[in-house]
Amino acid sequence: MIRALLPAIDRTARASLAAQIADFYADRIRDAGLRPGDRLPPIRRVAESCEVTRATVAEAYRLLAGRGLVESVVGRGTTVVHGGDAGQSASETRGEVGDSLSPYARAALRQTREMPGAPPLPAGRALVANFAELAPDGDLYPVDEWRAAMDAVLRRDGGGLLGYGHATQGLPELRALLAERWHDRERPVAADDILVTAGAQQALDLVLRTFCAPGDEVVVTTPSYHQMSGLLRAHGLDVLAVPFGPDGLDLDRLEQLLQRPTVRLLYLMPTFHNPTGQSLGLQERRALVEMLARTDVPVVEDEYQFALRFAGEPLPSLRSMDPRDLTVTVATTSKDLFPALRLGWVMGSAALLAPMASVKRFMDLETSALLQAALVEFVQRGSLDRHLEAMRNELRIRHQALRAACRLHLPAGCRVTEPDGGFVAWLELPQPGQGEQLAELALERGVRVVPGRVFDLHGRPSRGVRLSLTRADADQIAAGIAVIGECVHELLASPLAARPFL
Ligand SMILES: Cc1ncc(COP(=O)(O)O)c(C=O)c1O
Repeated sequence: MIRALLPAIDRTARASLAAQIADFYADRIRDAGLRPGDRLPPIRRVAESCEVTRATVAEAYRLLAGRGLVESVVGRGTTVVHGGDAGQSASETRGEVGDSLSPYARAALRQTREMPGAPPLPAGRALVANFAELAPDGDLYPVDEWRAAMDAVLRRDGGGLLGYGHATQGLPELRALLAERWHDRERPVAADDILVTAGAQQALDLVLRTFCAPGDEVVVTTPSYHQMSGLLRAHGLDVLAVPFGPDGLDLDRLEQLLQRPTVRLLYLMPTFHNPTGQSLGLQERRALVEMLARTDVPVVEDEYQFALRFAGEPLPSLRSMDPRDLTVTVATTSKDLFPALRLGWVMGSAALLAPMASVKRFMDLETSALLQAALVEFVQRGSLDRHLEAMRNELRIRHQALRAACRLHLPAGCRVTEPDGGFVAWLELPQPGQGEQLAELALERGVRVVPGRVFDLHGRPSRGVRLSLTRADADQIAAGIAVIGECVHELLASPLAARPFL
């Protein structure tokens, strides 16, 4: 039986030995020769059979874990976690072009193919509510004020902004403004503590390029922002999951994971976490920082929606609380202004930012000076504050509408988070898998939500769905949650609901 599951190696092929072994098992998982729960043969066994080193087989298993197909647990070997529907077979990245691709490009290609697209509404079904988008409401984009700011800087600075030669770290005026506006009053940020990037996504990529190497481990909350999971895998990093749900962050599990010598980074969204909308409270932040003090693992905190708080006091960032100075904060204008601006930034000590700036120099030379200057103008005219005020008021109204509708329509046994800001909330049903069932049923009735499986680090069935309020006004929220309520009642009444999802 095991003999049939040992790969044959072609030493004349261009693909590396590790890639061939990984491709063999990915193909077996795809054709269901290996199913979720099955164990891959021990590394030693494969190494002997293929006459390769154990390190080569370990690398192959890491590649498979990076694709989300298997999970390795110390002492228990490597187990298949994803079925044959997991995406494209490894061999589909081969072929004339595939053979010449770098490991990064192959992994990025695979991650892109595995990104789920939004399923269409059934033919003839009208949209009742769209809870699936994370971009701001297009009707709220400040188009005229942005055009005025662009006009003003072009008139004033003319061609001066259109060439090369602006600082890799970002325009000093913009960095000074961002530093002044950041909310950590106890430990203020200086302009020099900021590196401007092309959105938060580039900032996250820079952090990985600067602090991690393929095969390193990174600890990430699950569920988590799915484009970050894709990015980690494209970098060839092994992802270790720490649960973060309506009951908070599992600190004990996190401490265990951070003890591992191969862990290089912790990624967290402490405020308005994507996808649950939850924030770590002050006590949780203190406990976390106290625990981090016993490790030397750097942290990247993603504050992608920090400016969208409509209730409660701002909480100190983990960076400001970390006495080790090993935390960087990533932020963006994509959610509070508009994503096409592609401006974000990372904050941290000079020791952390200097290597990141050098890495960035060779990635893109510098971030658009024109857009940075227009943003400075936009802020100085008061346009950003006016826009933020309007956004926060609208989000407050929408979250209130969501809470009221959930109280009215959802049965006992469901849990919904109640964030103090940001776009998203998370609805959780009692059993794993019911998130996906709910998403399907709701879609049939004209309501879009994102099933929690999309955000699970290993693509496992989820209890939850993400509800984003950017594309639904208060009336649509009420109508959409009424439909979701019907679906949930049906799901919980069905005999299947009584069975645990396998
Ligand atoms: C948690 C999180 N971080 C980062 C990003 C990327 O943002 P940007 O558009 O600034 O690259 C997103 C986008 O949705 C996000 O949800």
